[in-house]
Amino acid sequence: MPLKIVVGAQWGDEGKGRIVDWFASQAEFVARYNGGDNAGHSVTVGSQLFKLHLIPSGIVHPQPIAILGNGMVINPESLFAEIESLEKVGVEVGPQRLRISHAAHLITPAHKALDQAMEVARGKSSIGTTGRGIGPAYTDKAARTNLRVADMLLPDFADKMRAHIESANTRLDSLDFPELEIEPILEKFAVYAERIRPFVADTAAELDAALRAGKTVLAEGAQGTLLDIDHGTYPFVTSSSTLAPAALLGLGLGMTVARDAVVSGVCKSFQTRVGSGPFPTEIEDDLALRLRGTGENPWDEYGTTTGRPRRVGWLDGVLLRYAARLNGLTELVITKLDILSGLPYIKVCTAYTKDGKTYTDLPFGPTDLEGFEAVYEQLPGWTEDVSAIRRWEALPQAARDYLDAVSKIAGVPVRLVSVGPEREQIVEANQ
Ligand code: GDP
Ligand code: IMO
Ligand code: MG
Repeated sequence: MPLKIVVGAQWGDEGKGRIVDWFASQAEFVARYNGGDNAGHSVTVGSQLFKLHLIPSGIVHPQPIAILGNGMVINPESLFAEIESLEKVGVEVGPQRLRISHAAHLITPAHKALDQAMEVARGKSSIGTTGRGIGPAYTDKAARTNLRVADMLLPDFADKMRAHIESANTRLDSLDFPELEIEPILEKFAVYAERIRPFVADTAAELDAALRAGKTVLAEGAQGTLLDIDHGTYPFVTSSSTLAPAALLGLGLGMTVARDAVVSGVCKSFQTRVGSGPFPTEIEDDLALRLRGTGENPWDEYGTTTGRPRRVGWLDGVLLRYAARLNGLTELVITKLDILSGLPYIKVCTAYTKDGKTYTDLPFGPTDLEGFEAVYEQLPGWTEDVSAIRRWEALPQAARDYLDAVSKIAGVPVRLVSVGPEREQIVEANQ
């Protein structure tokens, strides 16, 4: 299993962080390939809860080397804050453990301010972004005007940074937002530039050499399939390619090393989404409160990055099958099975109807969901608490039937089931 890609099969927050943590015990490298600190990946080990935003979740294990790939957008302020908070709890994150691609792009205070200003300008049609500057940073990347990590190492970095903030100030002014003070930003970034220097590396070459030497590289996706810029519910998406094939581009790997890649799709036992956009299986009654939780438990459905309550609904099998196809999933990991315990019945969307016609695939993907209504298969629930179960045979028959149904709908075998947030709360499937 030299290259393993872990990708979100829904709208993000599927539990990728805890699953990467599970696989990372066997990995030599753990690498992020897309997005930035819009991601919030939780890993629970005993009484410790780690909330990772930029650094791959595998860092919690002592051995893997963590990589921030070229496909990422990195806010140095968040990066150093995260390194410090990890080191405070005993996770050492020096240059021997973390390497940052010279070709990764930067997020600056100007990108953050523009993200917020543009959301306000969108008014009722706002995307509900995380406000981390993701969209504006990728916009500058595509416009070929952005600053990259490598620029931080060059003598003219301050000049480039000044020009960047000046240009952003013109935009902010046109959006009636206050301009940014340039000097304090330059001072901060001069410090970050010195701090980042020992971490910067040709990560693509390092990963290629590792894979050719038979080492295991775990690629950790951020966000999820339905938030992908091309294949998600556009325009209510993030600004990066989130899918498994993006791991190659976002890490600088060629096709050959990916030939035997395992592609693991993480899918929650129900559906959630944070931010605006279509959600055909959304529910808003008492059952929604039950799935979301009240916020008392750390795993309740409130954003890891923004704290916003997540929208919840039944698992959407049509969109899961779509995710299986686009990512080329070779296995499924189903999380939060414990949350379904005690429900009298469980529904899964198996098709949509529109104007009297039934669709098991969406004609134009999930972008145009207007007028499509979910058709459900209803399965029996179970009453047993599954959180202490570690063997497939010990799961209630109804739970196994549910997992089998999901696997059949997706056309992908289930490999793991997670029954709680703790590292060990995993059941390996007998499939
Ligand atoms: P990610 O963005 O995909 O890494 O997911 P998040 O960490 O944002 O959200 C998943 C939440 O569910 C976190 O609070 C996890 O600790 C929690 N979680 C993951 N798997 C399980 C599970 O099987 N059961 C329960 N109860 N919580 C889980
Ligand atoms: P993880 O990696 C869930 C959503 C935002 C918004 C849209 C665009 O933890 O699964 P952005 O700030 O990226 O421009 O916001 O994408 N979003 C996420 N939703 N999980 C995430 O990451 C997300 N990252 C972005 O809520 O709807
Ligand atoms: Mg998350």
